[in-house]
This record gives sequence, C-alpha cells and structure tokens, in this order.
Amino acid sequence: MVQENKLNLCVIEGDGVGHEVIPAAVRILRHVLGDRLNTIDADAGWDCFLQHGSALPAETIAAIRTCGAALFGAVSSPSRKVEGYRSPIIQMRQTFDLYANLRPVRGLTVLPATSTKLDMLIVRENTQGLYVQREYMRGDEAVAERVITRAASARIGRLALEMAAARDKRLCIVHKANILPLTDGVFRDAIREQQAAFADIKISELLVDSAALAIGSKPGQFDVIVTTNLFGDILSDLAAMHCGGMGVAPSLNLGTGMAIAEPVHGSAPDIAGKGVANPAGAMLSAAMLCRHHWQLPETAEQIELAVRSALQHTHTPDMGGSAGTEAVTSAVLAYL
Ligand code: NAI
Ligand code: MG
Repeated sequence: MVQENKLNLCVIEGDGVGHEVIPAAVRILRHVLGDRLNTIDADAGWDCFLQHGSALPAETIAAIRTCGAALFGAVSSPSRKVEGYRSPIIQMRQTFDLYANLRPVRGLTVLPATSTKLDMLIVRENTQGLYVQREYMRGDEAVAERVITRAASARIGRLALEMAAARDKRLCIVHKANILPLTDGVFRDAIREQQAAFADIKISELLVDSAALAIGSKPGQFDVIVTTNLFGDILSDLAAMHCGGMGVAPSLNLGTGMAIAEPVHGSAPDIAGKGVANPAGAMLSAAMLCRHHWQLPETAEQIELAVRSALQHTHTPDMGGSAGTEAVTSAVLAYL
C-alpha cells in the first residue's frame, strides 16, 4: 500500500541477477532512508510472462503509477519473436513517458589512471528511434522504422542542456546526420536551436562512429553527451568499461514526476543464482533516484561515496575479485 508522507518505491526484481542485486540495493536505501521508505513489490519479466501470460501485468503498472518511483533489476528477453511477449522495460518507458535515460560514467581510482579523471553523463533519448519497434516484412525485405520528432528531440536536448549547466557546461550531440540527414538532422537541429537560452554551454557534435572511438580512447574529454535511443544504448555500454564494467554502471529512466532506476546490465543468466552478481550498479541507480527524483542529493552522495569506497577493496569476480554480492553489500553498509 502506498503511504502518504513516505518515499514510496515499487520494487521489481525481474529475472536472473535482478533477484540478487535489487534486494541488496533496497537494503542500502532502507539503511539511509529508514522508515521514510515504503516499498511495494511487483512482478515483471520473462518468468512472469511464463507464469501469468504477461511480462508486465496491469497490477505492476498500477503499482509503479501510484508509487511514482520504481527500482527495476533486469529481465531476460528472447532474441526471437515470441507471440504475446513485449520487453517490459520498453513498455514501461513508453507507458510512463520516461523520455530521458541518464547514464553517468565516473572513473574509479582502482582502475587504470586514464579513467580516474573521467566524469561524463550520457543522456539517451528513451522513447523514440528504432525503439518504437515498428518492424515489419515487405515481401522478403525486413523493415524497421526509426522515428524522431522535433518535440521529443527538443525535450531531451533541454534536459541535457540543464544537466550540462549544472556540470562543466559542455554538451556533445552524437548523431549520424551524414547518413541519416532527416531523422538525425531533426534531432541535432532541435537541440542546437536552444543554444540562445543556454548561452554559456559549449555545444559540439560528433558522428556516432567517431564518438565510439573517442569514448573508448579518450573518455576524459566529455562532459554531457546527448544522443538518440539506440546510439545511447550502445555507447553507454561501451563507456561502462571505464567505470568498472557492466556490474557497476547505473541508470535512471526519468519522466515528469516519475522515475525508474535500473542498473544498465541485463539478467546475466551466466552468473544468476551464484551469489556473485555485482550489486554496485543497482545501488548507484538507487542513488540516482534519490538525487533526481526524490531531490535528496546529499543522500545520493552518501550512497555513492560508500559504494565507491567499498569498490576500492571489495570486488566481485567481474572486477577481478572473489567477493560475493553479500560481501560487497556488507562493505557498503559498513561505510554508511
Ligand atoms: P548482461 O548484461 O545480462 O550480461 C553481460 C555480461 O555482463 C555477462 O558476462 C554477465 O555475467 C555480466 N554481468 C551483467 N550484470 C552483472 C552483474 N551485476 N555483476 C557481474 N557481472 C554482470 O547482457 P546479456 O548477456 O547480453 O543479456 C542477458 C539477458 O539480459 C538477455 O535476455 C537480454 O535480453 C537481457 N537484458 C536485459 C536488460 C534489461 O532488462 N534492461 C538489459 C540488457 C540485457
Ligand atoms: Mg543496453
């Protein structure tokens, strides 16, 4: 039940390692928020689809809506068409108009020196592009529509510019307008048109392939990157290599008065159930919920500092260590 005057959170573990990393992140939230936090558990994902015939049941949608905030693990999605199955995360983003996906990448001091000065934020448009999922066959031609509107591009651009204004005041628009001049032209122009309102922000552009090389080789040069849905998906996984890998990378799906935090990684079936999943990405995602949705920046910082401190010495196998999920969680709680 949602409670007034509380921070209501819908908790959706999903599939695979979601059952391990999400409870760990909730423990951290409970520790810092105490009885201000009220959680409601809900189901989504592949196992849920197999059991109930829906990957995102109506009760789950209702629970997210009444809470206004959710913490989501990951789901397993088949890479072939399965009748009646739709990826719940894409459906949630569209249902709640979570138009921005914020993916920060910060270096860790335990990693090679090139990554320590790194502090970038990838702002990914989260509702359009190829993720409108309009795929069809025309004879033997498989076609996917890529939809980009001026309004959605202006909206994501404005948010990215606001984020840059609160940081190092640099925004790089990543696109492929040389090959896709209409769709990516609209995206780029709708953002550039707002320069006048953000006169102190330096706006630059990069083609997505050059951006991939730059993120791989010289990530320290970036402040805020704004890009379309698929490019943002791919580039943020690439950027995650600089912050300790997939298990550490956090994200927040943000809309108007509504947010869903989720670690960038998937359900990791190869390690699920073994107690070795890295909970850092889920914890840092919970911190983003505190900062951007509940407006509790100090609480967010407290969590981030504790996670980063724990990651100085306690590592799950994905980071080259032998600690389990529980050991990392205990280390973070000890810092808190
Ligand atoms: P994945 O992110 O699940 O795994 C990629 C690699 O990272 C694996 O080696 C895995 O062991 C490792 N990894 C992931 N999370 C980790 C963690 N917390 N700690 C330590 N290591 C971790 O991506 P993959 O293998 O491509 O996809 C597996 C399933 O997840 C698929 O069904 C896919 O559709 C789904 N998926 C779901 C996402 C979501 O729900 N948002 C996002 C990405 C994939
Ligand atoms: Mg991805």
